[in-house]
This record gives sequence, structure tokens and C-alpha cells, in this order.
Amino acid sequence: MNSMFRALIPAAMLVLSACGAGGTGEPPLAGARIGGPFTLTDQNGKIVSDGDFAGKYRIVYFGYTYCPDVCPTDLTKVGAALRTLDKQAPRTAQKIVPLFITIDPERDTPAQLKQYVGNFHPRLIGLTGKPEAIAQVAKAYAVAYMKQPTPSGYLMGHTQVAYLMGPDGKPITSLPLEKDPPAIVAELEHWVH
Ligand code: NI
Repeated sequence: MNSMFRALIPAAMLVLSACGAGGTGEPPLAGARIGGPFTLTDQNGKIVSDGDFAGKYRIVYFGYTYCPDVCPTDLTKVGAALRTLDKQAPRTAQKIVPLFITIDPERDTPAQLKQYVGNFHPRLIGLTGKPEAIAQVAKAYAVAYMKQPTPSGYLMGHTQVAYLMGPDGKPITSLPLEKDPPAIVAELEHWVH
């Protein structure tokens, strides 16, 4: 019994410290050159800068509203994860701002974003801007995109990633979009404190 007690203590302490310190383990993206300043326009036509989110964790996802499959699937998962957090851990949820940055500013006007983001989560912020501003922020986040003409118009190929950024604007990790919402919830609960 004594040896079993000893064996359990370190494991329990490990779990506690990992949780209490905001993830004692090094964040997977610690030190990565991802993120940076931006000034864009939100779905209400308001000018928004990265500094407006100082002190908040951010989920940063790049995509476009005309995306036929990938973006809606990913945003549905992120939205579901955030709704779970809203219920399970509202104080944690309040610390997170989800951002959807378009890589198709030609079609994604603020009005277009407005009728889109609400489908996924009430707090999801849609951001657009001049093509140069979008190119700059995408580059800062290591996101690539490319117009692909189709007979009826065009699609946008783009990097599929949802970054979790810290209150200091530095990258923490990318969220497991390939998994189900509970896995995303677990990841958020692990890093957001
Ligand atoms: Ni997409």
C-alpha cells in the first residue's frame, strides 16, 4: 500500500501542475513566427486591430464564406466546441475570441461575413480588408491561398489551420480540426486559463 501511495503521488502532482500553470508542457508552437499586427474590418464594418484582442486568447482561422466544404465543416466544429465550453466552463470560454479571417476579400464583404459567421457561433468575428491587408495577415500567420478558376467562377485553395493564440498574441498550438469537437474542447481547456 505504501509503495502504491508513493507511485500515485507524482502522477497526481504532474496532472495538477500541468493544469495550474496553463500547460506546463511547452506549447507546441512556442517560439514559432506566427501572428503579428493587423488592421481589418469586421462584419459590422468596424475597423479592428490585433491590439483590440490583447489579453484574450484567440482562435484564428482563415477561410472564405463561399468555401463549399472545408471551412463550414471546421467552423461547425469550432462553434460546437465553444458552445460546449460556454456551458461547461463559461469563465474559460469568455477568455476566447474566435476570429474568421477571409482570404477572399473580393467576395467577402462585411455584409457577406455578417450573414455567415452567425451560423457557427454568436461570438465568431469575421474579418476582411483590402487584398494587400489580407495578404499581409495571411503571410504573418503562415497561411497560403490561391484562386482556382472554375466554369462558374472560382474557388480559393487555402491552408487549413485553426491557431490558438495566447493573450500576448503569441501562438500556442493549432487545434485538432481533424478530430471531433470534444477533442477541441479538451485542447482549449488544457491551454486556456
Ligand atoms: Ni475553406
